[in-house]
Amino acid sequence: MIQFKNLNQEEPYLLFKSKYDEAYSAEQKVIEAISISTFENKTNEVDSRFVNLKFVSDNEFIFFSNYKSPKANSFETHNQIAALIYWSSINVQIRMKAKIRKMSNDYNQRYFENRSKKKNALAISSNQSKPINSYKQVIENYNKSLNNDNLKKCPEYWGGYSFTPYYFEFWEGHDSRLNKREIFEEIDGCWRHSFVQP
Ligand SMILES: Cc1cc2nc3c(=O)[nH]c(=O)nc-3n(C[C@H](O)[C@H](O)[C@H](O)COP(=O)(O)O)c2cc1C
Repeated sequence: MIQFKNLNQEEPYLLFKSKYDEAYSAEQKVIEAISISTFENKTNEVDSRFVNLKFVSDNEFIFFSNYKSPKANSFETHNQIAALIYWSSINVQIRMKAKIRKMSNDYNQRYFENRSKKKNALAISSNQSKPINSYKQVIENYNKSLNNDNLKKCPEYWGGYSFTPYYFEFWEGHDSRLNKREIFEEIDGCWRHSFVQP
């Protein structure tokens, strides 16, 4: 699930929420999965991965991750990302382009202390995306953290990211193939609304 808080009342946000509600009613599985694409300056490569979108708060889309992971390194040098959702239950794709930033330490701490101990042990013990000898070692590190670490203290290497889109495309698939593509582009603080061909 995605939690909406004081949702921004501009058109693309309202449309996002209305599509979310439709997908939720249609029992969309893994409804919070969102792909985040990054550009890495060092290698000149783009990469993508799914994360869980936890909140849409005003105009901020918020997820959580490891601040030393490859994606985090990419955000440091290139803070522009592309985000992508597909809700198969209603055949809707939502594309976004945005600038991304870290949440504050206070925000991270407040969020962390309200999560389950098991989730926190994983966040603390995982050196995300770094090589490890075996999966068994992952489990050992996790159990060690579960038994020994302060599971209410958010480590400095873990926390939230917020991105605020400046571009949305809502794609609605139709059986006729007459798919509807609706664009919202923020220009000088106003949303320009348009349609593109399927
Ligand atoms: C549905 C789904 C949700 C995921 N949610 C998260 C998440 O919220 N945060 C996260 O760090 N990784 C999440 N992952 C794992 C990431 O896809 C990825 O493997 C990990 O963040 C490392 O990415 P990186 O090496 O590009 O930094 C999720 C994977 C899937 C398939």
